[in-house]
Formats: sequence, structure tokens, C-alpha cells
Amino acid sequence: MSQQPFPFTFDVVAEDPATHARAGVLHTPHGDVPTPIFMPVGTKATVKGLMPSMVRDLGAKIILANTYHLAMRPGAELVAQMGGLHAWERWDGPILTDSGGFQVFSHGDHVRLSDDGVTFRAVDYDGSYVTWTPEENMRIAELLGSDICMQLDVCPGYPCERSYLERAVDLSSAWAERCWRAHTRPDQALFGIVQGGMDLDLRLKSLRRLEDIGDFPGYGIGGYSVGESHDVMFETLAPLAGEYMPRDKPRYLMGVGNPTTLVEGVGVGVDMFDCVLPTRTARTGTAFSDEGRLNLKNACHRADPRPIGEHCGCPACAGGFSRSYIHHLVKQREMLGGILLSLHNTRYLLDLMARARQAILDGRYGAFMAEYRDRLDGRRD
Ligand code: GUN
Ligand code: ZN
Repeated sequence: MSQQPFPFTFDVVAEDPATHARAGVLHTPHGDVPTPIFMPVGTKATVKGLMPSMVRDLGAKIILANTYHLAMRPGAELVAQMGGLHAWERWDGPILTDSGGFQVFSHGDHVRLSDDGVTFRAVDYDGSYVTWTPEENMRIAELLGSDICMQLDVCPGYPCERSYLERAVDLSSAWAERCWRAHTRPDQALFGIVQGGMDLDLRLKSLRRLEDIGDFPGYGIGGYSVGESHDVMFETLAPLAGEYMPRDKPRYLMGVGNPTTLVEGVGVGVDMFDCVLPTRTARTGTAFSDEGRLNLKNACHRADPRPIGEHCGCPACAGGFSRSYIHHLVKQREMLGGILLSLHNTRYLLDLMARARQAILDGRYGAFMAEYRDRLDGRRD
């Protein structure tokens, strides 16, 4: 490992004149990431159903893994012993690990917070009680060896009592500082996470505290997509990302992956997104398209010879697989159905961000956004 800290620099290469959209490049030890970018999620060190070569061929530049799940099974020590996450899962591009803050807080009644850390009952594994401190979380992230790791944070739901929201911001800030102090790997970047729910003042307080701790190479925007409407989300997200977050650092909206929110998110200045949506909806028989979601289980596809996307370059569409055939696979619960739809949906979001990036470079992001809205025409994306 290099003794020199790796320069996790972020270059803004173009800014759209009419919106807050920007195109950039994030440099990591495993390669450059053009932004805006969608990051496919491989929670348990696999993007479900897809070989790493398939994920790469779709055009993915960076993928996610989750510290919580990998710490539970098989354990971070084992992954480190097997050469680290990149070698073990055979992905040689950049990897971002989420801290597990979100997963831990989705355990509902089984979570106990203290100033020191969080104790939770791993009901989705063996039911054991697990205590995490920010220091332990950083130790796990360093053993996994991702290029980017996220601080341990507290992610409140929505709606949420003001007192809990304030506590979530206080704890997340305190833990950001402890993660900052505990983190040692020079080839891994630590991102802070802005919390504060749907309250702009709290969000700004959270951001200021992160900026006071140190020069984080990037910022997560957490605590969204927790049950609020699209409009409620953008009331605070738009000013936060567009006006207050530092211009020279990547802004990562965590856990958001429906196409419209990606397009609008880029418009308010977000650079990075991740979500399980493309693979999860694929496993239920749903495909993304510019005309909204298609449910391949629907009988209308039974004898449709067309591919899902007329202009899509994914192996399902470009490979000549018809809606009729995928309808059959999904109805018969054949695993290839979920695989073909995962390929298509993941490609759709990667492609959407590539189209967005080109629109920014061409200085026409406002028009791109309007066109996308019109094409969806109010349908569910
Ligand atoms: N994924 C989606 N939202 C969040 C969040 O608020 N915190 C973390 N750590 N991960 C997330
Ligand atoms: Zn396709």
C-alpha cells in the first residue's frame, strides 16, 4: 500500500447554466468515476443475480456493499483474510461501503441508542445483540477495504419527532468526528453524512458541524426516501444541495433510485446515487422505461415480440429477448427472468445518468429534465 495518502480529488468539469446540475470526475484508487453516477448495490458483496463482468459491461463505474451485512456474515476479518472486498468478489473497480447506519435503524424496536454507539438485535440473522461504536464501524470498513466508506450515522424515519431529529443530528455529528479520528487507511476516503430530516435549519447545522470536523472528501445526504413525498423531499434537498453544500466535493444522495428523483436530483446538484430498486423491482417482474414502469407479468406482453426498450443496449434488449419471452420467464418464476430484468433496469439507470451527464456537458440540462418529465407524462416511474 502506498504511504502517500491517495488524492481523492473531485473535479467539476461542467456546470449547467440554468440548473444546479454539474458534471464531474471523482478519482479513486480503483479508477475514475464520472458524475452524475448511479451506483448499483451489492449489499452482500454481489449485485444480485449479476456477474461482476456483466455489471462492468453494463457501464457501472462503482458499486456498493454494506458493512452491516458483511460484518454479520461472513465477518469482516474473513473478507480481509481472503484479500479484501475487491479480490474476494472479483470487482476491480471502485467500491463504496455504507456504514449500516440505515440498516441498523430499520430494525425498529430492536435498536437502543447511546452516546457511545448503537446496540441492536440482528433479527435478520441470528437474533444476537450487536453493539457498534463509530470506532468499530471504521475498523470493519478498513478490513473490507472499500475505496469510499461512510460514517456511522443515525437515520430517522418520517414523520419524526423534533426531539429525535435533533438527537439524530447531534449523535451523527459526534460520530462523524469519532469516525474521522478513528479512520486511518490512506487509500480509503471517509465521507460524512448530513442528516436533519425535512428541516432545513437542522440540515444546515449538520452540514456545518461536518465542515468543522475536517475536510471530508465527500458528503452523503442521508435520511431521505424514508416515507416522505417527492415534493416534501425536494423542499429541503434542493436548497441544501444547490446552495449550501460545498461546490468542490461530491454530493451523494443515499438510497434513492427511482428515475425521476435521479433526474430531478441531478438538477438540484446531486452527483451520486445508489439504490436496490433496479434489481429488486426486476425480481418482481418490473422494468423501467422512458414511458414509466412496465409490469412484465401483465398479460398484454404475452405475445409482444418487441424488446423492453427499443433503443436499450442491455443484453436483454440488444440480445433480442422479447417482452413475450420475459413475460413467460417471469410467470414461470424462471431465474433468467429476474436476471434479464436486472440487467435492463441497472442499464437503464446507468444510461439515464450518462444521458444526464451529456446534457450537462452540452449546457441543456433544463431541457433534458423537462423532456424526461413530459415523456413520463405523470406515469409512475
Ligand atoms: N441509505 C439510505 N439512507 C441512508 C442514511 O440516512 N444513512 C446511511 N448510512 N445509509 C443510508
Ligand atoms: Zn434493456
